[in-house]
Amino acid sequence: MHLLSPGPPLDLPGLYDLYDPPARSVRGGMVLSADGAAAHDGSSLPLSTPADKVVFRTLRAVADVVLVGAGTARAEDYGPIPVPEAARAWRGERGRPPRPPLAVVSRALDLDPGQRCFTGQVRPLIVTCAAAPPARRAALAEVADVVIAGEERVDLAAALAALADRGLGRVLCEGGPSLLAGLVGAGLLDELCMTLSPLLAGTGPGMLAAALPAPVPLELVHVLEEQGSLLLRYAVGGSPGQ
Ligand SMILES: NC(=O)c1ccc[n+]([C@@H]2O[C@H](COP(=O)([O-])OP(=O)(O)OC[C@H]3O[C@@H](n4cnc5c(N)ncnc54)[C@H](OP(=O)(O)O)[C@@H]3O)[C@@H](O)[C@H]2O)c1
Repeated sequence: MHLLSPGPPLDLPGLYDLYDPPARSVRGGMVLSADGAAAHDGSSLPLSTPADKVVFRTLRAVADVVLVGAGTARAEDYGPIPVPEAARAWRGERGRPPRPPLAVVSRALDLDPGQRCFTGQVRPLIVTCAAAPPARRAALAEVADVVIAGEERVDLAAALAALADRGLGRVLCEGGPSLLAGLVGAGLLDELCMTLSPLLAGTGPGMLAAALPAPVPLELVHVLEEQGSLLLRYAVGGSPGQ
């Protein structure tokens, strides 16, 4: 056991370098209240803090693609992924396109093609399965690239492989709890970046919306702190009890 003591302040682009993921990796990014809720009144926004927003934007800035479940895209009125000038410059220096696209995972495809997330400079992706309703799929193909992975449900491993084939190997999954549980359950999540916000939310959904067959161990990579917000970065895996 040891005490974590304050280190030197961090700012951009140091944070981009700190969080730059491996070329093929799946990272989860979530904010939780101190009592473990992933949403308050149906949204994660009341749980976020200034420090969480900085890391949230940093994770986006270094990702090749931002992956969300349709529940999150609907609940949080997702728009195109904004990337500030400093991040575009950082990406350009590394030969990466200026902005990561959004990719929405859905079988039902109950998404409005006029929704904000389909209006940006970068064409988003819809990741769906063969059993998705054909008419909705055709409507969404007008505003997004449609990736088919799996038959009755989206096969998440096949979906990640299809994204990697498009050069989108650094995946940031911003949730929600159903999609993240699918990734963890399938052994596909490499890293978890979670903000523990200094507030209590009461009853709400947790980080994962499904039980796992066995607890999955995490290995702490680092902790950042700002005004009581803890920015925790874990590698997924390792041996229990380490
Ligand atoms: N605290 C945080 O950081 C955070 C982050 C994100 C979301 N949230 C909160 O989480 C709540 C939403 O939770 P949620 O579990 O509904 O969100 P979700 O995981 O984003 O969405 C679930 C939906 O994603 C689609 N999906 C996921 N896995 C799939 C698969 N393998 N195959 C096909 N479709 C798949 C399905 O869409 P279809 O029904 O369209 O088929 C499913 O209904 C909201 O309150 C939101 O605010 C919190």
